[in-house]
Amino acid sequence: MSRLIVISNRVSAPTGSHSGAQGGLAVALSAALREYRGIWFGWSGETTEQFTGHINLQRAHDITTATVDLEAQDVEEYYDGYANRTLWPLFHYRIDLAEYERGFAGGYQRVNQRFADTVRPLIEPDDVVWVQDYHLLPLGDELRKRGCANRIGFFLHIPWPPLRLLSTLPEAAQLVRTLFAYDVVGLHTEEWLESFRDFVVTELGGTVDGDVVSLDGRSIRAIACPIGIDAKEFAALSRSTRARLAFRQMRDSAVGRDMIVGVDRLDYSKGLEERFLGYERFLKEHPGERKEVFLLQIAPPSRGSVETYQKIRTGLEGLSGRINGAFADLDWVPIRYVNQGYPRDVLAGVYRAAKIGLVTPLRDGMNLVAKEYVAAQDPEDPGVLILSKFAGAAIQLKQAVIVNPYSAEEMSDAIITALKMPREERIERWRALMDNVEREDVIWWRQRFTDVLLNVPQAADAAA
Ligand code: G6P
Repeated sequence: MSRLIVISNRVSAPTGSHSGAQGGLAVALSAALREYRGIWFGWSGETTEQFTGHINLQRAHDITTATVDLEAQDVEEYYDGYANRTLWPLFHYRIDLAEYERGFAGGYQRVNQRFADTVRPLIEPDDVVWVQDYHLLPLGDELRKRGCANRIGFFLHIPWPPLRLLSTLPEAAQLVRTLFAYDVVGLHTEEWLESFRDFVVTELGGTVDGDVVSLDGRSIRAIACPIGIDAKEFAALSRSTRARLAFRQMRDSAVGRDMIVGVDRLDYSKGLEERFLGYERFLKEHPGERKEVFLLQIAPPSRGSVETYQKIRTGLEGLSGRINGAFADLDWVPIRYVNQGYPRDVLAGVYRAAKIGLVTPLRDGMNLVAKEYVAAQDPEDPGVLILSKFAGAAIQLKQAVIVNPYSAEEMSDAIITALKMPREERIERWRALMDNVEREDVIWWRQRFTDVLLNVPQAADAAA
């Protein structure tokens, strides 16, 4: 193939280094783009008075990024609105938080059209296009309407909700139909895939034959393909100078206590309130352990202009304050609650210093923090991963201590089990986890998806 065109809402700056604060997906896609001489297109994160479609092209470390500015109204209706007030809560099973407004749906459609108009001239006939995530579900359809006959794949990085939940969205049928413009649709797990098929069959009257899903004469491949991390790179990162420094700092400041670590965007889907309550339960049930541990929760604020995010932030401030007030002593604070992000190499050092990695989302498409925690461990003395059964990663990371994050009791039991776990058992579990993290890594994910995409016949007949 000639080139790979990746399209996502957010385009991360191609720093080429491992010290930037970029997430795992950004690193993964950067690697793919370097390999295929591609272009990465998306929103610049900036606003402009009037949308012009002007593309800002930048080239660094073998990656070309192409970004556009959006109007304030676009950001309000498309990013804050439909993406993060409608789809995000709905797809994370939170219809109680989802807001259905025609203005949001209209803004979402408009921005997808603007993306299509802008990126279309950059796409050459042999290029393979790969659209990422819930911000851009209808983009493939918009590209087809503009005569794009290239192979186009789509990957959803969040869960796919069950039929009964998705059908509460007024334009659900229309939205799901647009996915049939793609050649391949990828989801992280069989569970999300089944929900997708269920909607297509039950609500739209489509059919399923193996991984081929058909609707109104158009067939696409729908596959489960769990994303991984660059395990070797992350393990190496955990031994870097900055990671070692962070490791030492954490160990020094722990003064012999065991550290439990959580690292999450400040998002209600991450189950942070439930995590704090589970930890509080542990403190109550095990008074003898109190001053032997502390919880470091790193939670950089996210999507702050959306009310539900403001609420969760206030809620967590109250909860951490209350727990600390109730349990802290002159020389010990049970929760260190930190509202900022850190570079990946610093995080790698922090993970390595933690006896427990606490990853307890209420619902999560995959969760790469769980995998990074595993990759950062010392093979001779690894920590224990406590993982929510509702994270996509639980399908692969079976040797973690699996918990139901809604149960404070289970969380408390899991913490004491992890703290008391003998070294041999920790090593045994960690080896199995690391084996999976290394085997089903990000390169494996990318190759599996692109192999399927490259094997479908080019959709020449799909051109408008
Ligand atoms: C999730 C989504 C990504 C998104 C990221 C950060 O991982 O799947 O698409 O980029 O959160 O959220 P933000 O709104 O800051 O881009």
